[in-house]
Amino acid sequence: MNMIDVITDKKLGKELTQEEIELFVDAAAHSSVPDYQLAALLMAIRLNGMTARETTALTLAMQNSGDTVDLSSIPGIKVDKHSTGGVGDTTTLILAPLVAACGVPVAKMSGRGLGHTGGTLDKLESIPGMSVALSGEAFLEQVKRIGVAVIGQTGMLAPADKTLYALRDVTATVDSLPLIASSIMSKKLAAGSDAIVLDVKTGSGAIMHTLDGAIELARAMVDIGTLAGKPVTAIVTGMEQPLGTHVGNALEVKDAIDVLAGRTKGDLLDVSLLLGAHMLVLGGAAGTVEEAHGKLVRALESGAGLEKFAEMIRAQGGNPAVTEDITLLPQANVVRPVFVRKHGFIAGMDTTALGIAAQAMGAGRQRKEDSLDYSVGFVLPVRIGDEVFPGDPFFTLYARNEDEADRAEEAIRSAIVLSEEAAVRPPLWYAQVTRDGVIKPS
Ligand code: URA
Repeated sequence: MNMIDVITDKKLGKELTQEEIELFVDAAAHSSVPDYQLAALLMAIRLNGMTARETTALTLAMQNSGDTVDLSSIPGIKVDKHSTGGVGDTTTLILAPLVAACGVPVAKMSGRGLGHTGGTLDKLESIPGMSVALSGEAFLEQVKRIGVAVIGQTGMLAPADKTLYALRDVTATVDSLPLIASSIMSKKLAAGSDAIVLDVKTGSGAIMHTLDGAIELARAMVDIGTLAGKPVTAIVTGMEQPLGTHVGNALEVKDAIDVLAGRTKGDLLDVSLLLGAHMLVLGGAAGTVEEAHGKLVRALESGAGLEKFAEMIRAQGGNPAVTEDITLLPQANVVRPVFVRKHGFIAGMDTTALGIAAQAMGAGRQRKEDSLDYSVGFVLPVRIGDEVFPGDPFFTLYARNEDEADRAEEAIRSAIVLSEEAAVRPPLWYAQVTRDGVIKPS
């Protein structure tokens, strides 16, 4: 059996055997076959799909293609959290310290921005001095000492996914449910936690635009976790608009600090509390989501969450004073308030376009090697359903120069749909998926 046999079988719509999948993953991990053969198989999978058995075999083979993290020396149930990616989606910076403040250890490996979506590591690195490159030992030691660490990957986690993800990005094969599910879950399983909370986004800024697609992806990932013996709760949440009001690295850190300090309420806080509550339940710190929610709110109101965030920043070499004085974060050259031109209701947003606008300002990478400007982005306080009048404050740009501010202003105005009719506010979440089935909010 060789790669051509495997490609042929998938081209004909056959279910691949365990051996075929292992051959493919081994070839991806060691680059032992040409990229065009890997890409041909990826396209065959994109077009013909995979069964649940194939998807699980692919996930486990990718998980075992490199190092795995052993968190067993940390006492307690370690719960990981993963978002499928969004804009203004800063929940990790809020819930990691809050959950840790409630006694559940958070040993989290996060990622960088990808395309129009932001990345937790880039946001953390906007804090002066902050390091996300801890050794494996320093990572474990920090979680044991203060209950929380958020870092980049240590070692080579799921190297097969690294090769395949890069190929998918340039062969129009990102939007394949079995490829997304196996990519995410192989890394989550390799990262060693005991249980996982998944935030599966749906809407104009999400990898899965439709609710059915998001629920199907959530189901596939829950099934993989269940087969791997790890409890997984997936919550399908809205990405019809940026989750927080701030988009851009330092701006999102500021948003997280404002939420932890109790100054900002709204969707970012509510989704953080929802996901955090499921983490506490899976971590055994609460019997019900309601009880867990109450604990998180108390940790927020007492200031314990913000204190834990400062402790984490200090432990990772950053300046914890940012939690008291946000002007210590990088500041943009140009700050431009933008005003509403005509009356209407905010009826919708092209959230991917909003993410791309921030990326073009320097908040994200166009190419892998690009460096970021942490200070840039925008603050958009209006939400879908709001009524706005000419002259009202609309959004504020934080840019490197006036030209980039001009381009961003145009892009953001075009991404926001105004209507004459009153518009409905989208719900915060759409479905909760566990091994027991799908629950929709009442
Ligand atoms: N995030 C991942 O890690 N992989 C995907 O395929 C999509 C989102």
